[in-house]
Amino acid sequence: MHAAISDLARRLRDCDRLVLFTGAGVSAESGIPTFRDAQTGLWARYSPEQLASPEGFRADPRTVWAWYAWRREKCLAAAPNPAHLAIAELQRRLPGVTLITQNVDGLHQRAGSEAPLELHGNLHRLKCFRCGADGGDWPETLDPLPRCVCGGLLRPAVVWFGESLPGEVLARASEAGLQAGLFFSIGTSSLVYPAADLPFQAKRRGAFVVEINPQPTPLSRHADLCLHGAAGGVLPRLLAALE
Ligand code: NAD
Ligand code: APR
Repeated sequence: MHAAISDLARRLRDCDRLVLFTGAGVSAESGIPTFRDAQTGLWARYSPEQLASPEGFRADPRTVWAWYAWRREKCLAAAPNPAHLAIAELQRRLPGVTLITQNVDGLHQRAGSEAPLELHGNLHRLKCFRCGADGGDWPETLDPLPRCVCGGLLRPAVVWFGESLPGEVLARASEAGLQAGLFFSIGTSSLVYPAADLPFQAKRRGAFVVEINPQPTPLSRHADLCLHGAAGGVLPRLLAALE
């Protein structure tokens, strides 16, 4: 991997359009469970259709709120790990870096990354389930469940199963990918669309695509370089090679 990282550092120095695309794996080393890890993943223990869908919320809003309150506690108790910190440092050091994330935990921002494109929203923000208006910050209590001024129930501002991604955010992410000279896909299973299509779009436009993941994914055989390792180990080594 040493030679690959040296070559990649050279590419980074010559690149002025870099996209960093992240998934739950980037927060795994902060102790936040990913979704699909067989034993520890969230979906191994909960039914996402019941907890991360409009139908599930309509049927039992209190349970969905309790689940997100549990996830939010884990996010607040977690600290950015070396992967988040290395990503924020790459953004400071290199020109033309766009950070796109599927994560909703806010750890990129806490690590110092500014304005990541949050394709699936943010757990720490609320919106109205009925009218979609911004719902401000989390309430002190969930009893009674918080409501919008329109009377509708508030919900976490996270994209759920079957919902569309925020169109403007997705368009900006897609545009960045299409312009990218170098596209990193870090800590994502590459299973969930339309987010998972971004590296393929970039590849079709000639970007050099790098995957950082301990496990293979559907992207692996299309990537130009696969670094099979944890993001918290690989990214700091890449940063050091840039010096
Ligand atoms: P889904 O098949 O119900 O919805 C995703 C499909 O919707 C994609 O195949 C895509 O074609 C289309 N789509 C969604 N937003 C779009 C947009 N803005 N522009 C164009 N096409 C769009 O898949 P899903 O697994 O139910 O997930 C739906 C959304 O919720 C995804 O963004 C996903 O990342 C998010 N989400 C998924 C999970 C999960 O585990 N699958 C959990 C939480 C949130
Ligand atoms: N470093 C890098 N990758 C890691 C690490 C790590 N330390 N630990 C785990 N991974 C990888 C796993 O191998 C897996 O490929 O992270 C990936 C996590 O995949 P998922 O759990 O599917 O998470 P993600 O790809 O972000 O899911 C996409 O689907 O569930 C929805 O909306 C949700 O945003 C999420 C989307």
